[in-house]
Amino acid sequence: MRGTKILLGVTGGIAAYKSAYLARELVRAGADVHVVMTEAAAEFVQPLTFSALTRHPVALEMWHRDQSTESEIGTRHIHLATWCDIMLIAPASANTIAKVAHGLSDNLLTVLALACRRPLVVAPTMDADMYLNDVTQQNLGVLRQRGVDIIPPAIGEHASGLMGPGRLPDVEVIIEFVRKLVDGRHEDLRKKRVLVTAGPTYEPIDPVRFIGNRSSGKMGFAIATAAAKRGADVTLVTGPVHLETPRTVDRIDVETAHEMHRAVLAAAKKQDVIIMAAAVSDYRPSKPSGQKMKKMSAEAALDLHLVTTPDILAEVGRVRRRGSVLVGFALETENALENGRAKLTKKQLDLIVVNAATKDNPVFGSDRNTVAFIDHAGHVDELPAMEKIEVAHRLLDRIVALRA
Ligand SMILES: Cc1cc2nc3c(=O)[nH]c(=O)nc-3n(C[C@H](O)[C@H](O)[C@H](O)COP(=O)(O)O)c2cc1C
Repeated sequence: MRGTKILLGVTGGIAAYKSAYLARELVRAGADVHVVMTEAAAEFVQPLTFSALTRHPVALEMWHRDQSTESEIGTRHIHLATWCDIMLIAPASANTIAKVAHGLSDNLLTVLALACRRPLVVAPTMDADMYLNDVTQQNLGVLRQRGVDIIPPAIGEHASGLMGPGRLPDVEVIIEFVRKLVDGRHEDLRKKRVLVTAGPTYEPIDPVRFIGNRSSGKMGFAIATAAAKRGADVTLVTGPVHLETPRTVDRIDVETAHEMHRAVLAAAKKQDVIIMAAAVSDYRPSKPSGQKMKKMSAEAALDLHLVTTPDILAEVGRVRRRGSVLVGFALETENALENGRAKLTKKQLDLIVVNAATKDNPVFGSDRNTVAFIDHAGHVDELPAMEKIEVAHRLLDRIVALRA
């Protein structure tokens, strides 16, 4: 951890006193630690404790009456968000978790959490009933979807006498979690430009109906989340989905294959890595009706005339930068590897991710996936079933290796 700049956020809970020990151990491990506290946290522990342990003043007040140095005026409230390598909120109260999940920023800690583009780690700490409450779980779910790392709380007896989850884990566990993040693979795409597509496309039949598919966008969003965590500047072009935008990712929403085509081609030339995970419709109605189509008599059949949509992957292959890595996805219901290999060659991809949609691997909407990677040399790597976020990291590991 030598030289790692850690912004430690402390919120109001009994476990705030343990953060003093956490701060001391982080400093002993070689980290440079700044502490930001909420007003409630300062009811539990004196800021002086933290400033003595970290040898830095504690950030507490958003409104400074003194005018400090000229360079700090007007920016002091966000300075620490750009200074740090990692922001760790431990303990994180239910209140602060709710605020961070919804973008509220009414104190210095939440302002910094909102402004911080570095990895954000949260250690939820509260009574078991507060932790297990649906609303807290939903808020944690929102954070997780955005790519925030959640340290699972320890289970045991609380100060209130309740038994259950919600205790701050041992300081050693928290430090190990942070150490893994710092040592880990998250910086191996630092400043690399990564374009990811996700979700389905909707091709209008009339103003209210469309041809679409069952893609949830989860795989593409997981890739965007993982790439952002590994330091990449990520652009995510997505069809209609119900997912939170991962932290620090630039999101472009599109609806049709044509819109996706335009957005992707506008961005493709600048990218170091392009990962096309969207399930783009191959066909669209040739002449969508301007008005809602009326139902005809019971016996009448409706014929829709369909035409092909642009082949985005093939066009990206033609315009992409030399040296960039292009990855495609193939969803197959039969002969998955064979069809994947054919697509890899035809579209001149560096790598293809093959999903076989079966009863055991539903792919769409699921948080898990079973995939195989095929590279341009024909090597096949079949992975066991795993969380989509882990698939995303494995894919990025392969891409990093290809770039090297
Ligand atoms: C004695 C005491 C202990 C508390 N412990 C916790 C706790 O462990 N976790 C929590 O989420 N809230 C706890 N609270 C409630 C928070 O302090 C309260 O929600 C506060 O508004 C949190 O503010 P903050 O998120 O700005 O720090 C406790 C309150 C009291 C009085």
